Amino acid sequence: MPEIEAIMGEGDDRNIALTHRDCNYMQALEGDIDTSHLGFLHVGGIDGEKLDLSDPEVFTVTEKAPKINVTVTNYGTMYSAQRNAFEGTEHHRFASYLFPFWVTYPGGELENAVTANAWVPIDDDSTMIFNIDLRRASGGGKKGFKYKDGTPVEGLARPLEYLPNTTDWKGRWRPVKDRSNDYGIDREWQRNGDSYTGVVGVPMQDQMIQESMGHIVDREMEHLAASDRMVILTRRVMLDAAKEYAATGKLPDFVDHPEYARDARGGDIVVPYGTDWLDGYEEKMAEVKGYKPKMAAAE
Ligand SMILES: [Fe+2]
Repeated sequence: MPEIEAIMGEGDDRNIALTHRDCNYMQALEGDIDTSHLGFLHVGGIDGEKLDLSDPEVFTVTEKAPKINVTVTNYGTMYSAQRNAFEGTEHHRFASYLFPFWVTYPGGELENAVTANAWVPIDDDSTMIFNIDLRRASGGGKKGFKYKDGTPVEGLARPLEYLPNTTDWKGRWRPVKDRSNDYGIDREWQRNGDSYTGVVGVPMQDQMIQESMGHIVDREMEHLAASDRMVILTRRVMLDAAKEYAATGKLPDFVDHPEYARDARGGDIVVPYGTDWLDGYEEKMAEVKGYKPKMAAAE
């Protein structure tokens, strides 16, 4: 197993949540590395001006067109979404893709975020998601947005409501809301502008978008753009690895070096304007972990 921090920690059932998703694993995983959809799909109905601006995550609401930085790493790929922040500073939101199906997604401030999603294929058309947030049980994980008066922004959080598990091959961890009931969409909530989707909860909004395009979307229909740089790079790295394995039988180095994964975290930092995105990441990680990560891919 890769030595991802979130799966190396103390066990607590409350830190892990499973969900069946009715589409191909890569279709779902790509949602996790497509950072700019957050500002539309999940928070498109929130007026950024009304939010408590002391939380740097707010910049994901107020600036919907981040610059996307990407790189190949020794465990897979990594991005930051870069936005102007407070006077003289910039905000970077990081996440990594790790072979073969892991994402360390942004779980709040980088120093406190210990998170991972495993997008495990059940078959070509369905996926089991293992969502892990090592700080969830202690209440120290992702905080969520607040308005200036301190009241929380509603309608974003877990938990999902599940159907009873059955013994069917695909009968476990199925949400109550699915395509048969239009994911519980509330058209009035959507019409009055308070919700972009009319669907409650970030996980269910993703579920609706990823399932409703079909089990495996026809990628000939895509028009990839600058905001898709992480998706493009990750596909390329996966395809290159598959081709190399087919041609030579050689697997990525990461297979023999699960410790590479220790350097992958997802989360937010604020740095002085003009700081190199990877320098910012390495310095913050050195502060947290006591050593400077070396994620660079071998030539
Ligand atoms: Fe999402």
